[in-house]
Order: sequence, then C-alpha cells, then structure tokens
Amino acid sequence: MNYNIMYIPPSGTTMHCQHTWIAYIDNTAVGHIHMQIEANQTIKFLDAWVDDDYRRQGIFRMLWDNRWAYVKENFEGYKVYAWCLPKSLSLLKERGFTEGDTCVYVEKIVSNNESKYEKVFVSC
Ligand SMILES: CC(C)(COP(=O)(O)OP(=O)(O)OC[C@H]1O[C@@H](n2cnc3c(N)ncnc32)[C@H](O)[C@@H]1OP(=O)(O)O)[C@@H](O)C(=O)NCCC(=O)NCCS
Repeated sequence: MNYNIMYIPPSGTTMHCQHTWIAYIDNTAVGHIHMQIEANQTIKFLDAWVDDDYRRQGIFRMLWDNRWAYVKENFEGYKVYAWCLPKSLSLLKERGFTEGDTCVYVEKIVSNNESKYEKVFVSC
C-alpha cells in the first residue's frame, strides 16, 4: 500500500495549539492523528483515526512514529498524555506509556421533566 504523510502545523486561528499528521492516498485522507500543546509543558495526544478499509496495515503506527519523532525533536522534557480506547492502548504501552485508571463513559439526555428527587429502588 502506497500512502504519504502530511504534517499540518498549528494555524493560530483557534484556541487550540494543534498539530496534525494525515496519511493520504490519491489526495484522500485514510488516517490522521493529532496533538495539542497545553499549559505547563504538557502535550495531549488525541483523535487517532484510520479508515475502516485500511486498518491493521500499520498506518496508525507510522503516523504515531512520525509524531513521536517530531515531539522528541521539539519538546524535550514535556509530559505527554492521552485518553486511549482499547484499540490504541496497546501501541502506547508498547511505546513506554504507563497505564492509568480505567475511565468509563457515561451519558444522560437533558430533560425538564425530571422529578426533583430521584426515586431509589432499595432491594435489600
Ligand atoms: C485505533 C486505530 C487508529 C488503529 O489504526 P490502524 O492503522 O488499524 O493500526 P495499526 O495497523 O497501525 O496497528 C498498530 C497497533 O495498534 C494496535 N491495534 C490496532 N488495531 C487494533 C485492534 N482492532 N485491536 C487491538 N489492537 C489494535 C496493535 O497493537 C497494533 O499493532 P500490531 O498490528 O503489531 O498488533 C483504528 O482502529 C481506528 O481508527 N479506530 C477507530 C477510532 C479509534 O478507536 N481511535 C482511537 C482513539 S483513542
């Protein structure tokens, strides 16, 4: 598979200082990863994605290694962190990241019809 990688530096047009790496074939993106520079010499890795049709062929790994080379070159001493889904966790662990606590996604639809006090079912 023949793809290229493009680097997009932060534009300065948003509140985020975001760097992007895009893998593309024939002018179409097939994968991307990003990082944001935060306060106190901290970097957040985020939003890794590879097109379904191109997964498990090393694109994420290649993007990751490009980003890491850039980080090592430009951000010595910074702390890097990421929130990982199971699919991306193994590569970060392989690259020496320490696994923190597991985080569980929760959600709720906002409604004005809730009673003031929630009923609690007590079964004991
Ligand atoms: C996660 C994702 C970016 C991986 O992209 P990819 O190009 O298929 O990954 P690679 O082929 O480069 O794999 C690199 C490593 O990641 C891990 N990995 C990738 N896909 C995985 C999967 N489905 N299950 C478990 N580990 C996986 C493996 O450690 C793999 O190394 P290996 O091939 O030597 O086993 C891709 O599956 C995706 O876009 N998923 C949906 C979005 C998502 O979950 N993003 C992560 C946000 S934190």
